[in-house]
This record gives sequence, C-alpha cells and structure tokens, in this order.
Amino acid sequence: MPMHRDADVVYVTREIPDAGIEVLESNCEVHVSDHASQDPPSKDEIITRLRKLKADGLFCMLPDEIDADVLDASANLRVVSTLSVGYDHIDIDAAAERGIAVGHTPGVLSETCADLVWTLLSATARRIVEGHQFVEDGEWKTWAPKMLTGEDIHGTTLGIIGLGKIGTAVAKRGAGFDVNVCYTSRSSKPEREAELAECGIDATYLPLGDLLKRSDHVSVNVPLTDRTTGMIGREEFQKMKDDAIFVNTARGEVVETDALYEALDKEWISRACLDVTAPEPLPPDHPLLEFAPGRLVVTPHIGSASIPTRNQMAKMAAENITAALRGEPLPNGVRTSSTSIS
Ligand code: GLV
Repeated sequence: MPMHRDADVVYVTREIPDAGIEVLESNCEVHVSDHASQDPPSKDEIITRLRKLKADGLFCMLPDEIDADVLDASANLRVVSTLSVGYDHIDIDAAAERGIAVGHTPGVLSETCADLVWTLLSATARRIVEGHQFVEDGEWKTWAPKMLTGEDIHGTTLGIIGLGKIGTAVAKRGAGFDVNVCYTSRSSKPEREAELAECGIDATYLPLGDLLKRSDHVSVNVPLTDRTTGMIGREEFQKMKDDAIFVNTARGEVVETDALYEALDKEWISRACLDVTAPEPLPPDHPLLEFAPGRLVVTPHIGSASIPTRNQMAKMAAENITAALRGEPLPNGVRTSSTSIS
C-alpha cells in the first residue's frame, strides 16, 4: 500500500533557478541535491535519493543518465522532467513501459541557442579568442595589415543541417549577416521556408552531400537520434570546402570526433567551433585542443545558458512535474508510443 503523505515528493538533481523551485514548492515537498552545479550526482546517488525519498517526481538535467535502474528506484515515480530540450539522456521507452511521463523544455531556448551559433561562428571567423589572447599576452605592439586576418561571414552561404526550431532561428539571423542560406533535413520544409521568406531569407533545400559542397560555413542543428548519431564523419568532412567553418551546437555524438580531428589536421576544413563534444566534457589534454584557439574554439555546452532562458526553462520543467502529479497532461511532454502525454 502506498503510504499517505501530505504532499508529493520531488527530487531535483542539482541547484536550479528559483523560478523552478517556486513552482515545485507551491505543490510539492522538494529535495534538492546538495551538489554544486559543476559536480553532478552519480547515477548511484540519484537511485539512493529516489529510493530513500520514495519520490513521486524527478527533476533532472543533461548529465544525468536516466535509465531503467533509475526509473525503478522509487515505486511512486510518476514523472521525470529535464531542464533541456534534448532528452537523449532519458530512456523514453523504459519510462513509457512503466507509465512514467517525461517532460522537457522545447521552444523556449531556440533563440538563445541561435544567438550562440552566430557568436561562435563570428568569433571563429574573426579570430576573437586568439585576438584576446594576443592582447593579454602583451603581443599587441602596433596595427599591421596582416595581423589576425580571418574569414568574412557576409556574402557567404551558410548550410544548416536540421531546420527545426533552432535551425530556423539560426537561419533568420542570416538576414542580418547578409548570407545565403541552404538547409537539409529528412525532406524539404515548405512551411519553414515560407516563415523564412517573410524575414527576407530565401532558404534552399539540398540533400546533405550537396549542402556540404556548396556551403562556406556549416551549422549542425539536429537532435541526437539513431539516425543522426555519427552523421558527420570522414566522407562528409571531405565534401566540405577547405576554407569552411564547421559549427556544432547540437550534440557531440552527431559528429565522429576522430574524423573532425583528421579534417582539421589534413585541412579538409579551415576551422571548427563546438559547444558540444564527444566525449563531453572534453578533457583539457584531448588531441582536438591542439588546434585551439586558432582553428578551434570550444565552449562548455552553454547553448541555452542565458539567465532569462534558464529561468524560463526551470519554470517549464517544474510545471511539467506539477501537472503530471495532479494527473493532468504535461504542458511540454515528450511523446512516446505508449503514453498519452500531450
Ligand atoms: C541543450 O543541449 C538542451 O538540450 O537543452
């Protein structure tokens, strides 16, 4: 018999913005991990906490691997909600088999992530990280015609792999940068093309191989699925222009890291900028970092990391939990084959 409690119990795996805690506390008893944001709890710790608390809800985030063992830790568990749009760290089928609802935070972070794509692309093209280092190292003695010259962005063609919400937000910003946009996805997307046309962007659909050959810069904006894992490897890098800049802000596993190393080493491409890596975190002695900062710029998976966006994400993820615990459809549920999550 489930024991009677005054309130549902929710375990939160890391400190989160107050906006999320306020939503949870208005309905539930909330237990936040005492781990600082840089130091995630291990899977065993998550299991132990869920079991001890007999938790009804789990508020998790990207580094937490939520598999069948975690989902079985508390017989009361009815909902898992992640502070992210991606949910490749959650075993969705295992959750569905157990009737556990899964929520995430789509849409709210698209513009913030698109800002980062353009920040990385321009920082890499115009050698901003190197330039800063140059000044700090006391090497700035004069103005010189060939000093820190980089690539142009205006007038180039940006190839976008994946025209979902984030890819579309990236494409829209192309109008301000005066670039041509082409995209690839499973099929052409006339509705997105029409939305972009209203912003002055004439986006052309191309098969992946043609997009790689035609683009001056390439941005990956697909979710991680069986289909997209390893979709950019040796063959794809060899098709890119040798002065191309490659941007990945999606998931590290979409790209074969060894192939990216080879592409930089053999100069099949000019530069790369990454907000996501495989492995992640990227260890400081990883061979890829040989190319930094001149030909490689890496940020630590901060695509959605603006204060307003993280506040909204925390609120959305919390609202998924409180809705599920009231027996209502999740406002932002992940659709699975055997649950009726909205
Ligand atoms: C970030 O990568 C997210 O999925 O929200």
